[in-house]
This record gives sequence, C-alpha cells and structure tokens, in this order.
Amino acid sequence: MKKSLKALSALCLSATVFAGCSSSSTEEKIPQIGVAQIVSHTSLNTIRDAFVAQMEELGYKDGETVNYDFADAAGQPSNLNAIMSQFADEDSDVIVAIATPTAQSAANYADQIPVVFSAVSDPVGAGLVKSLDKPDGNITGTSDEVQIDQIVALAKQIDPDLKTLGFLYNAGEANSVSNLNKAKEYCQANGIELIEGTGKDMTELQSSASVLAEKVDAMFSPNDNTVASGMAALSKIALDAGIPYYVGADSMVQDGGFATVGINYEELGHETANMVDEILKGKKAGDIPVKVFKDGLNIYVNKAYMDQLDIALPDSIKNDDNLIMVGE
Ligand code: TRP
Repeated sequence: MKKSLKALSALCLSATVFAGCSSSSTEEKIPQIGVAQIVSHTSLNTIRDAFVAQMEELGYKDGETVNYDFADAAGQPSNLNAIMSQFADEDSDVIVAIATPTAQSAANYADQIPVVFSAVSDPVGAGLVKSLDKPDGNITGTSDEVQIDQIVALAKQIDPDLKTLGFLYNAGEANSVSNLNKAKEYCQANGIELIEGTGKDMTELQSSASVLAEKVDAMFSPNDNTVASGMAALSKIALDAGIPYYVGADSMVQDGGFATVGINYEELGHETANMVDEILKGKKAGDIPVKVFKDGLNIYVNKAYMDQLDIALPDSIKNDDNLIMVGE
C-alpha cells in the first residue's frame, strides 16, 4: 500500500514536471528588463516610477507579464559595469539606463541587448548616438536638453545687474560638460562672466560652492547628478551667501534650489516606456529616433528661497501662465 502510493506520487510528480515543461515551451518567456540609475535623486526616481506606471498602462504587470531588475549604482560610475553584466547574465530583453553615466555603461552591452536611455542631456556629446534621428547601433532613448539660455535669461530678468555667474558641476559628468559649453557661449554673448567651480563628490562640491558663492552675483548648476544628490547642503551655501541659485531641473528647485525653466520628467519617463514597448514588439532600437524634451516648459520658483532673500519677481514672470511656485 505504502509502496504503491509512493509510486503514484512519483508518477504525479513526473506528470506535473512534464506538464510544466510542455506548457512553458509553448508559453512565451516573460520579458526581462534591467532598469539602472546612477544614483537615487528626486528626478531619477520620478523618471523610474513614471516609466513603471506607463508600462503598467501598456499592459505590463510586474511579476506577471514583465520582470524587472532595478539597480542603483549609488553615485559610483565604477559600479555600473557589474550592474550591466548582471543584466546580461539575466538574459535581459531591454536595458533601461537612466542618466548619462548609466547610458554610457549600458552602451557597451548594446551589441547583445537593446538599450533605451532615459534623460540623457546630450546623447551625441556623450558618445551614445551619432544622430538623434537615426541612432543606429541598437540604442535609443529620451533626452532632457537643458534650456541654459532661458535659465540665464530668467536670472538676468530677475537681476538686470547680473554680471558674474558661478557654474557649479561635476566635470566627470559628460552631461554637465555639454551644458557648461552652452552656458559659456551664452554668457559670453550676453556680457556675463562665467566662473567655474567643480567637484567629483559632495565634499569637493561643497568647498567649491563656498568659494564660488563669495565671488559671484548668482550661482547655477545644470542637471548634474552629483549636484542633484546634495541640493539641500549646496542651496544652503548659496542662501547663506545671499545669492540666488539657479538650477537645471524642477526637482532641484523642490530640493532647495531657487529657480529653473524646465520640462516635466514624468512625461519623459512615460515616453521611455513607450520606446521599450515598441522594442518588445519587435522594432529595432536603432530605428527609433531619440526624443528630445524641450517643449511645454515651466518656470519653477522656490517660494521659501525667494522670501528668505527678499527677491522680487518682475511682473513679466509673475504673470507668466507657466509659472509654478514651489512650496506655496
Ligand atoms: N540629464 C541628466 C543626465 O544626462 C540626468 C537627470 C535627469 C538629472 N533629471 C535630472 C540630473 C535632474 C540632475 C537633476 O545625466
């Protein structure tokens, strides 16, 4: 009796194994997506969450019809290669690479896995694609081109006497170097002296900021990932020196900076998902043009910062339909 039961259950077991085998061979493999970001800061987290939300809209349910591996390099570019190689080991169908350093590392795997980069300020300058319209090379994505001209013009509107601008950034980020070059050009054409301050981590950035803040009429940081991770401390340095601190993204205003002119990053996260969907449905990444987000810009102003330094907004800005007062 005992024996036959055992035999029966063994039979059942092998039957289930067989059943499992045959059904999995007819079922399609659930897409595996590796999502990496260089660091956790407000904007990159917003992009990641908006990406997942839009994937859900498109019918991809986490754990049911799609599997994700989320990775964060904790601000260390040296961690990125291990992350990408893990995505390759997991047989990922697409890599989503959020921010420039992440995308540069993912690009090394594009010969094996399609790459969709997200929020890369200057995809050509970062060496990711030769052309935005025809990326080729199994890689495409979204770009958050920074509107340097409009931001510096805003600074000049708020303070018509603006003569010196301190530009604070991490020279190790290709996105910030591109933006520095744009800022230099604009400042030169508009009679503003640009003074650079750099740092590869928060300790260095804070000491650069302290030196800069004493020398300039206003400070500016583009959407630099290292700066964005330490906005509270850096804004305090500018505030204590009594100068406005302009920044390259709405999140950097939310996190303590004074003002910017910028895009909606949720839309950019959604578009990243649309591109992944197209690729999962068979389109070649290199055939999808890079989408640059530069329309529908808002002016973001930090109310507490403005009040603390008694900064007055001119009527032209106060009456602008696109003005968003942060913290009001
Ligand atoms: N554009 C940045 C890059 O190319 C990434 C980024 C997106 C970012 N949003 C930001 C950086 C906000 C700082 C703040 O890497």
